[in-house]
Amino acid sequence: MKLPTLSLVLSSLLLASSAAPTDPEPRDTSPEALGLAKRSVSCKIINVSKYANCRAGPGTNYEVRYRAPVGTSYNFVCYKKGECYQGNCTWDKIIIDSGYVCYINGYFTDSKCSMAALGQC
Ligand SMILES: *[C@@H]1O[C@H](CO)[C@@H](O)[C@H](O)[C@H]1NC(C)=O
Ligand SMILES: *[C@@H]1O[C@H](CO)[C@@H](O)[C@H](O)[C@H]1NC(C)=O
Repeated sequence: MKLPTLSLVLSSLLLASSAAPTDPEPRDTSPEALGLAKRSVSCKIINVSKYANCRAGPGTNYEVRYRAPVGTSYNFVCYKKGECYQGNCTWDKIIIDSGYVCYINGYFTDSKCSMAALGQC
């Protein structure tokens, strides 16, 4: 009889996986380590003479929340697709303070802010 043997194996597997971890090592439970959040990417503001508008959403119809001076680096967390500017339709998100979020068109951020590096919001 194969069935009892199989169910015995399955139940011991279930027992093993539900056993409490006895590993005393402290675990990294940060959102990044758990794969719940991406690390931010530091990118510089470029292609503008003074500052790039950082808007409440991914388009020029959204209000300007912040003006990011050219040459300054910010930590970008992800990108959204939106209105295209100079052929660039990605808007890179920064969190200035907790909960304070705005988006800068990808035309104004350097090449480190690639879509692959940022990931979609
Ligand atoms: C944007 O800025 C980069 C870096 O300064 C420069 O290499 C590039 O030519 C600029 N692109 C445009 C369209 O001005
Ligand atoms: C938009 O800008 C980002 C840099 O912020 C760049 O990685 C991306 O290739 C640009 N897309 C286009 C279509 O130029």
